[in-house]
Amino acid sequence: MTPAQKQLVRDSFPSIAALSKPISMLFYGRLFQIDPALRPMFKQDIEVQGRKLMDMLTALTTNLDHFDDLVPMLKALGQRHAGYGVRPEHYPLVTKSLIWAFAVARDRDFYRQLREAWSTVVEMAATVMKDGDAELPRTP
Ligand code: HEM
Repeated sequence: MTPAQKQLVRDSFPSIAALSKPISMLFYGRLFQIDPALRPMFKQDIEVQGRKLMDMLTALTTNLDHFDDLVPMLKALGQRHAGYGVRPEHYPLVTKSLIWAFAVARDRDFYRQLREAWSTVVEMAATVMKDGDAELPRTP
């Protein structure tokens, strides 16, 4: 991730956070439209879940310069996700739906460079989460 991309993410985060509720609703709506089979995995209230996701985005955004510090936490998050029934192939669907939700909520303000910068952050987190999942012992 380039310094310019980090700056774009930091600068745009307040306006994303201000739209966190509509973004969460758009995101889950889109995700369940793409793959309705994922809906039953989510047991908690979607609004509460959306808040947790936004808290995680806050953590990512504020730690862009020392992303390594987040690795243990993200690996553990990925391992909990395995317990929710999440598989590695679900990650691109979540990334795609989240970036779509940002773009719809921000409309024309979500230009290509911003989309690429945010996709990079979410993909970085997803990669570490999947690494955590891959480290789990598997029964043959
Ligand atoms: C960058 C990727 C992702 C991030 C940052 C993320 C973040 C989170 C966070 C912070 C939680 C709260 C619970 C906890 O801390 O254990 C959570 C729960 C959950 N996530 Fe994710 N997640 C990601 C990817 C995914 C993917 C790919 C799926 C698959 C559909 C998914 C499905 C779930 C489910 C089912 C729960 C539990 C919800 C419930 O108990 O109702 N997440 N996620």
